[in-house]
Amino acid sequence: MQFRLRDGRTIPVEMHKSKVVQTIKLLPAEDRLEAIRGAGFNTFLLRSGDVFLDMLTDSGTNAISDNQQGASMCSDDAYAGSESFYRLTDAVKRVWGKDFVLPVHQGRAAEHILARFFVKPGSFLPMNYHFTTTKAHFTMQGGTVLELLKPGALEIDSDEPFKGDIDVDAVERVIDEKGAGNIPFVRMEATTNLIGGQPFSLTNLRRLKAALKKHGIPIMLDASLVSENAFMIWKRDKGAAGMSVAEILKEMMGLSDIVYLSARKSCAGRGGMIITDRKDFYDGIAPMIPVYEGFLTYGGMSSREIEGIAVGINEMADPEVAGSSVEMINFGVEKLKRNGIPVITPGGGLGIHIDAKQFLPHIGWEQYPAGCLAAAMYIASGVRGMERGSMSVDRSADGKESPSDVELLRLAVPRRVFSASHIEYMTDMAIWLFEHKDLVGGLRFVQEPPVLRFFMGKLAPVSDWDKKLLDAVEAEFGA
Ligand code: F0G
Repeated sequence: MQFRLRDGRTIPVEMHKSKVVQTIKLLPAEDRLEAIRGAGFNTFLLRSGDVFLDMLTDSGTNAISDNQQGASMCSDDAYAGSESFYRLTDAVKRVWGKDFVLPVHQGRAAEHILARFFVKPGSFLPMNYHFTTTKAHFTMQGGTVLELLKPGALEIDSDEPFKGDIDVDAVERVIDEKGAGNIPFVRMEATTNLIGGQPFSLTNLRRLKAALKKHGIPIMLDASLVSENAFMIWKRDKGAAGMSVAEILKEMMGLSDIVYLSARKSCAGRGGMIITDRKDFYDGIAPMIPVYEGFLTYGGMSSREIEGIAVGINEMADPEVAGSSVEMINFGVEKLKRNGIPVITPGGGLGIHIDAKQFLPHIGWEQYPAGCLAAAMYIASGVRGMERGSMSVDRSADGKESPSDVELLRLAVPRRVFSASHIEYMTDMAIWLFEHKDLVGGLRFVQEPPVLRFFMGKLAPVSDWDKKLLDAVEAEFGA
């Protein structure tokens, strides 16, 4: 819920209370510098005990509800035919209106299986935007990803409510050029992860469906953050006026022929699913589940996780849940914007995205400004964000590096985990860092894995800027 205070500020009021909590600590600044040095200046390699506010991701880190916890205690551990699985399929049918559920252990497992089923050398794969694991799986099968965002989608500061819309005219042009037979699906990612968690509109999805229908091309929905996308449709899309979040979700699912998701992000602590109402897709994909994931009624998940998802699907249709992180994000984005920090607007799903290109204009892309900002933010504040920029783009086959479309520091806001005062602290430290941005320098790889290098790669500062930043932090805040 948003509440307007007497001093004119609007704050997000949490519509939940804590029952179980985890203690966190803020290490002294000197220890933070040691920790990030040990992690090769890559926030993925920090130990979580060394982190104060963990804003790396919302994956597996959303709070679960008392009802989810309760249901998981009553799960059925049968290897085959688990009752927990049937409670999951019932929830999918009732809330989302879809018939067939194929369980997998997490989102990228769904991508692996879908890539094997749909993609072959010569396939063209139009989408609103790629995600790292999605692109890795689709290209490993020989497909070519085509990103068809509408003009203006990559503008950092914008009033455009649906920067995640696909350019339907461009999709039609691609079909004319490449031939419908070479396009196994068009993928829509509900809130485009890599470009600021920006939603697409229901109006856009309806238009896409109409355009694809005549060619028989299915829509594939990456529903990992579908509730947040539905919430923003509910708030912003005139084409959905009068609809509830639950109705919007059901229509989004209905317009999509094949849906997959990371349950770690969408509605529970772990797991993933492929969902469809196309019997031919189900029959083609189902035999792969026992080979790669586990028997058809658990797919690599524990029965406790499956129960959590079944309850989570119901909860995510509640606007107070679907909107909980969106409103926190908006609160942080508005404050950063008021203070002149370059941040993606409007606020989207997943997290707060600071534009490292504008934040650190003195660092060229080949020294990974978003990675530098992530490391500097940790040294300054103990907050762990994630680099979403040129470090997250792997080298091409001939070893060349290329700049990312955007250089972002992502500060994830997992659902119902952080309070408004946590957001106040994090944004204040970002403002301090902006005032001292000249202290931050570049990074270079010292250990660089060939695929998804951002996960495990190690870097080193190009000068002793890390020590100078520490001195400034200690001068301002004490040790
Ligand atoms: N699709 C999207 C849009 C995602 O954001 C993710 C994961 C996946 C697929 C893969 O799912 O992790 O369960 O295998 N995103 C996480 C993140 C990793 O931090 O943004 P997974």
